[in-house]
Amino acid sequence: MQKLEINGGKKLSGSITISGSKNATLPILASTILTNKKVVIKNIPLVKDVETMVDLLKLLGSTIKLDKKKKKIEIINKESLKTFAPYRLLKTMRAGVLVLGALLAKYKNAKVSLPGGCAIGSRPVDIHLNALKKMGANIKIKDGYIIASAKNGLKGCLITFPKVSVGATENILIAACFAQGKTKLRNCALEPEIKDLILFLQKLGCKINQIGKRGLNILGVRKTESISHQVIFDRIEAGTYIIAAALTNGILKIKKINPKVILTEIELLKKMGVKIIKKKNYIIASCSKKIKNINIITEPYPGFPTDLQAQIMVLMTMANGTSTIKENIFENRFMHVSELRRLGAKIEIKNNKATIYGNSKLKGAELMATDLRASVSLVLAGLVAKNKTIVNRIYHLDRGYEKIEKKLSLCGAKIKRIK
Ligand code: EPZ
Repeated sequence: MQKLEINGGKKLSGSITISGSKNATLPILASTILTNKKVVIKNIPLVKDVETMVDLLKLLGSTIKLDKKKKKIEIINKESLKTFAPYRLLKTMRAGVLVLGALLAKYKNAKVSLPGGCAIGSRPVDIHLNALKKMGANIKIKDGYIIASAKNGLKGCLITFPKVSVGATENILIAACFAQGKTKLRNCALEPEIKDLILFLQKLGCKINQIGKRGLNILGVRKTESISHQVIFDRIEAGTYIIAAALTNGILKIKKINPKVILTEIELLKKMGVKIIKKKNYIIASCSKKIKNINIITEPYPGFPTDLQAQIMVLMTMANGTSTIKENIFENRFMHVSELRRLGAKIEIKNNKATIYGNSKLKGAELMATDLRASVSLVLAGLVAKNKTIVNRIYHLDRGYEKIEKKLSLCGAKIKRIK
């Protein structure tokens, strides 16, 4: 199994180009099930989860050309697709369940494995299933599979989500595009990745309007257009590298982004003492002062993202005092804490609140990655820890970070992949 070996203590300096967003690419790929016209998707991140989604679509019968050099995917669904999404592919990638809404809306039936993915909480799909039931679907769970049918097609209706859920909003939004009549979705998640999915679907010919802060009205259609779409940048990858610059007292130009999308993160990091210069499509992040302590709460967008919680925790270990994090999205997203403690970090956990004592002097050790963002937090910690840090199980990292060791080593980090 591959590992990363990091020799900490090097100041980072240089430019990093941010890849396309994994969490936008995945639902966009799932939604291509709706169309039989040629679709071109650009700025695809070359990460494992995207490969898995491509494999899933191919298995369903899509004809897909992936041009890795140009980071472009062309999809044509000439024939009818299969409607069976197996456990083999969904066990590693929760977003696989996003094919459910599309298959059910287009083909009136689907058998989709209950998903796996990062072990950061129980992560049920009840909100997805209850919404589809409300749209007229008949749903059973059998042998780990969701077996769904809607003989007369899905029907538009009013759905108020009981909780803001990214995946449920995406699944039902995609399904509603091909349902009969109007669907009104309320209490939706409207992360930048969902806005990108909406843009993609609108280009395809779907009729979607945003109502107020968390509402979407969708009028079902049957006809779609051939389109080309450029995926939005990965805001979590961008945030991760800003933190890397701050942690190492370095200076990084973070390119191919829109700073307006990550204002919450930028403002918070500035409060911690990180210097950030914003330009139209890049920022320059640096830090030459002592990091200040801060208290944060993870929330749906535009709040501070849970996907950046593990990374900012590492920065907090360097602060001049005690910081806290309240994790409001997932109930089990502190698995990086025990590994960070092995490097010498002082962190206490009580329910969903972490207390991080600053002024730590981290020392390298051998570590185990547990999920995607936990993995990257260990890499960040390795960049500042004294001596050698080894991060095991980096397949988690490869699910969502494109060429991380290359991007970091080009900026001066001593990091390499070993067997
Ligand atoms: C998406 O996961 C992202 N994944 C996650 O990114 C991200 O952490 C999360 O949204 C929150 O921003 C993708 O976009 C592929 P949710 P998702 O439904 O859709 C509960 C990463 O590191 N819930 O918004 O699974 C759920 O348990 C990953 O890139 C239900 O109870 O998240 C959680 O507590 C990891 N029932 C909360 O809602 C449901 O049916 C929010 O989850 C659905 C969700």
